[in-house]
Formats: sequence, C-alpha cells, structure tokens
Amino acid sequence: MKIMVVDDDAVSRKVLEKKLTGIAECTAVESGKKAVSLFGKTLRDKAPFDLIILDILMPDMDGIQTLSRLRKIEKKLEIKKEDRVKIIMITASMRKKDIKKCILLGCNAYIAKPFKTLKIYEEFERLGFSIPKTVKEDQKDQKSYTDLVTKIIKRFNKGEIELPVLPHIVKEIRSLLMSDDPSVEELTQIVQKDAVISAKLISVANSTVYQGVDKATTLNAALVRIGMKETLSVITSVTSKNLFNSDNDDLKAILDKLWLHSLACASCCKFLAEAVEDESLESVFLMGIIHDIGKVLLLKAIADISPDESLNDEALQAAVQEVHTVFGAVLVKKWGFAPEYQQAAERHHWDAYPKDAKKELLIVHIANKLVSAIGFPSSCDPEETGSKETVKPEISPAILGPLNIETEHVQKICDKVSDAMLNLSEQF
Ligand SMILES: [Fe+2]
Ligand SMILES: [Fe+2]
Repeated sequence: MKIMVVDDDAVSRKVLEKKLTGIAECTAVESGKKAVSLFGKTLRDKAPFDLIILDILMPDMDGIQTLSRLRKIEKKLEIKKEDRVKIIMITASMRKKDIKKCILLGCNAYIAKPFKTLKIYEEFERLGFSIPKTVKEDQKDQKSYTDLVTKIIKRFNKGEIELPVLPHIVKEIRSLLMSDDPSVEELTQIVQKDAVISAKLISVANSTVYQGVDKATTLNAALVRIGMKETLSVITSVTSKNLFNSDNDDLKAILDKLWLHSLACASCCKFLAEAVEDESLESVFLMGIIHDIGKVLLLKAIADISPDESLNDEALQAAVQEVHTVFGAVLVKKWGFAPEYQQAAERHHWDAYPKDAKKELLIVHIANKLVSAIGFPSSCDPEETGSKETVKPEISPAILGPLNIETEHVQKICDKVSDAMLNLSEQF
C-alpha cells in the first residue's frame, strides 16, 4: 500500500510515519502545494497513491483546499470513482463545519487528533485495505494515552479544568499601557508595590539579555533600560515562572526542564530580534516564554486527573506533544493575549509559513529549534533531544530569508544564548 502523509507539523508527520511502518510505503510532505504536485506526478508516472492522510490546519493551502484540488485533478483525468485515491482527513480541532465541507468535497474518512494507532488501522480496513494480524496484535498490547488526553480536552472545553490565572500586576500594567500617554513614573508606581518583582526586574535589566553600559541600580533605571512595553513582557515572564511549579516531584522535574527550554527560547528570540533590527519586536521574549505553555497545562491536568500515571512514559509524552499547540493557543487566548501570541503557541512547529507571516512567528519557530539543538530541549518532544556537540539545527532558508539573517550569524546567536543561560535562570 502506498500512502502520502500531508501535515505541516514535523512532529505529527513523524508520529504518523512511525505508526505506519510495517504496513505501508509512506511518503510525507509538509504542504498542500507539495501534495498536489506529487499527486499529479504519481498519476502521470502511473504509480498512484492508494491513500492520502491529510491534515486540515495548514498554512497557505489548507487541507480542505488541498482535498478539493486533488479531487479536481482526478475528475479532469476522468478517473473512475472506484479508482480514486482514498483520503482520510485528520485534525486536532474537528469543527463540524469543516467535517461537512470535507465530506462534500469527497473525503473518505476523518479522524480527530490525538488518535490511537488502532483507530487508523480500523479506518484502513473499513476502506478496504488489509492490516497484517501481527501488526494489529502488537498495537493491542501497547499502552495508549489517547483516552486520557481526550478526557482532558473534553473537560477543558466544558470549562471543568481550572486555568492558571495571571497575576494582578500584569493586568494593571496592561491597562496602563492601553491608556493615553502612559509614563515611566506611572509604571514605576505600579511595579514598586511588589518588592520581589521589582528586584527581579532590576536583575533582568542587568542580565546579558538587556545589559547596558552602566549597572541599572534603581527600579526606574531598570524600567527605562527595558522600555515601557517590554517591561510588561518581562514581568509577565517573571511571574509565569510560578506556572512551572509543582509539588509532584516527577512533574516538577519535567517542568524545570521545560522552563529552561522556554527561558532559553525567550532569550534566543530576543537576540534574533536584535539581529533583525526591528524595534517593533518587543513581544518576542514573552512569546518564547509561553510558546509551550500548552504542555504545562496538559501535564498538570494529567497529574491531577490521573495521579498514578508515569509522566515520563514515552507514549504519554507523545500524546502531550501532539496536542500541546492547540491547547496552548486556547489558554493564551483566554488570558487575553494578542493574536500573535496565540499564533506563537499554535504554530511554532510549522515547517512553512505564509508569505505575510509575522516576523515574531518566524523568530519563535527558529528559536525553538535552535535552543533544542544547543542543549535546552523541551520535554515531551522526541525530536528535541539535542546536545551542544551532536545536533546542527536545520533552519530552512525560506524561514531565515524574510528575516535577513545570515546562517553564520545563527551560530553566534546560539553562543550568546548559551552564555546568557549560565546565569539567566537565577535572575528569574
Ligand atoms: Fe512546542
Ligand atoms: Fe518548544
């Protein structure tokens, strides 16, 4: 059986390819455009695919548009209905409207993420493909966390999972910044009410990420150095540290690793923004901090709902990895962050971005990859297990290009992040 997997998310592609080994010859592509062109080529070469697994949410040409194009090609070539390729749609957010559209356009099945491998096999069989008995038996013995994650998603959608709240000071600063002509004095008044945050802010202002010529010794000097808008970003980051805390030792160990990953990502974002020389990029630090927040929320919910579960289990982490972006985006939205923050949480694993994608989004994508490769991998991500010596991050020129960053510069930025991380974690 010949299968094409179309998914912009590298992690999802890997997960699917793994699930399909042993039963099919699998080709994975990362965009609708590539899928359409490869599909046409295989038809011309008389070596068509038997089945296509198509993700709905993709940049540029999404899954629904791709589906429509594929069916049009078949119609044009007058391929008989029974000989047409079978198409299974797949997505993390199964909106009824989308499902209806897909059925109308001629998809053969749809599956919601995260899914059990057995579920995919069942669909294959329903569509007339046979799955070797041994492969199926093997799967039956494997523990799956799909049910648990699905339960959490349901509870979350019903509002039954308590969401962490942002501290009051963040809201106060936010409304000050939205007022007409806010002043540093007003900002100082709000921040100085909290001695711990004030002290941390001064220390961050003197860290390698913000360092100036002289030491900023007062709160006012620190605020001036960091800048009004960016102060909100830094304070939100400083206070977010609490979200990565837990009384459960196993969870704490995972969250500590995730915090270091997020902090490294945030500083890398900041250094990349400096390299781009665009002053409007003041929000990138916070984006780096929150990009994987969906994992924090999911892991906490799992530890809460199912306390006996081993959080280090590979299959459990894979399930978390699969849905953390959608989850993160919902949380960030509920917190009232601007849409670009939601995008950072939702789209940082994309492989390609639309031409008009915000620079911040590209920066978060690059930073996430770089810091994982230099020894600050995220938890739950089987792809992100780098160490300084072994992994050379691959950043596509299509993503680096719009930012005008040279490949040689990337190494320098990595070194800067490694240096900054030597003491940055103490400042937070
Ligand atoms: Fe992530
Ligand atoms: Fe990450």
